[in-house]
Amino acid sequence: MRTLSLTLDAQLKPQFLRIARAIRSAIHTGQLKAKEPLPSARQLAGQLQVNRHTIMAAYQELVAQGWLESVERKGYRVVDHFPIESSRHAQAPVAVSRAKFQWQLAPQPAIAKTGKAAHEYQYNFAGGHPDIAAFPFHEFKPFMSDCLSRPDPKTLSYGNNSGNSQFIEQIMTYLRRVRSITNKDIISVNGSQEALYIISRVLLQPGAKVAVESLGYRPAWNAFETAGAELVAIKQHAGGIDMDHLTELISSRSISLIYLTPLHQYPTTVTLPVHERNRIYRLAAAHNVAIVEDDYDHEFHYSSQPLAPLAADDPLGLVIYLSTFSKIMFPGCRIGFIAVDASLAPALINYRSVMNHKPNVLMQEAIGRWMQEGAFERHLRRTTKLYQQRRDHLVSELQQYQQGGLDIDFSIPAGGMAIWLDVKRDASELEQYSQSQDVYLLAEAHFHLKPENNRNRHVRLGFAGMKPAQITEGLARVFSFFNR
Ligand SMILES: Cc1ncc(COP(=O)(O)O)c(C=O)c1O
Repeated sequence: MRTLSLTLDAQLKPQFLRIARAIRSAIHTGQLKAKEPLPSARQLAGQLQVNRHTIMAAYQELVAQGWLESVERKGYRVVDHFPIESSRHAQAPVAVSRAKFQWQLAPQPAIAKTGKAAHEYQYNFAGGHPDIAAFPFHEFKPFMSDCLSRPDPKTLSYGNNSGNSQFIEQIMTYLRRVRSITNKDIISVNGSQEALYIISRVLLQPGAKVAVESLGYRPAWNAFETAGAELVAIKQHAGGIDMDHLTELISSRSISLIYLTPLHQYPTTVTLPVHERNRIYRLAAAHNVAIVEDDYDHEFHYSSQPLAPLAADDPLGLVIYLSTFSKIMFPGCRIGFIAVDASLAPALINYRSVMNHKPNVLMQEAIGRWMQEGAFERHLRRTTKLYQQRRDHLVSELQQYQQGGLDIDFSIPAGGMAIWLDVKRDASELEQYSQSQDVYLLAEAHFHLKPENNRNRHVRLGFAGMKPAQITEGLARVFSFFNR
């Protein structure tokens, strides 16, 4: 039943005119839009506790005035073009002549404003976009539908704020079996971004220092900065982290947290070697510094088994491990999880309870069932193969351009969803040109914490989201830059 809230003027008589005036006023204020259907006379009569004939009289009055029309077998609706009111009917609400309310905003995070969204370009080389069309919606549907067919009131209610228990159980089993992570509590989150925000709020006081990769993931930096933290850039080399620099930072700058993307470094895709992982862990342990390990696309590793996360060998419990379903499913699913030592979990859950209690229970429940049945891992095997083919296609296309004399350079990434391509000239110019050709890609400049370090010679080319033919055509458009 369609409900319509009307403000009635008790002084105005007769009653049908009072109701007609209130409906007209609802049209004036935009509460009722052009062509919008009105409740049936019986429904509105029930809501307003009046006789149905009174409503009919009000509707007919408004038809006569030109505000409503009667549509055969459908009832009454607002007209498409409103009448110009004669002085007899002009009773528009009193115009408020003051300027609009002025908000006093707290300091705002400096989120980069982009023009068109990546997916609005015909060719989208955005670094971490999965192929949403390749997600098996038809396979996932029965699991979602099952949750709706057999709803469990206990699960659907408040409480249990770490997340849906079936989802958590499946994640624990999966992490133990596939990523060698044991001895961690699991907290489900609305994607990694929520995790980063909660962690920042719980662990960082204003002025705290967070060491981050100097080329890195700006949304994480935004979360740390929103908590008042100061970011300190860790130097990188072509194959990982500059350990001497990190050692010096940790020894001299009272760092509270290190944020890393060790498996496929964002944005360069380099895998942090084992000896550097071990040194970082020992360093963090010696100086009592926590590590946030953002493992955002773990499954998509092609050349070998992916290295086990730092969190898999964490006897002190100092690694906070983040993972997301944004790449496995699609970013709009807003599901991820934190795997964390039991000593920190209650504080994180408490903070999240203040924000929004817990993430969407239905989606977690459906994913839990999907994982339990094995369909999740089948999907992972299929997509890993698909993305490997796309990586190989992009690599072979780039090699052909090299053989044709184009001066570009890259390493073949062992995994991930992008290639970090050295274009040996101003990458921002190439980005701008590509966008003019309806191709989305991002230049190195977007990923630098310190603009002064920006040589701006690279672009990040995501390959997962496009079919091979699109990759070929998109690249042709990008590289037409060099033939101008
Ligand atoms: C480094 C990194 N972390 C995390 C994410 C995923 O974030 P979310 O789970 O909030 O969608 C991405 C996605 O692009 C990413 O690149």
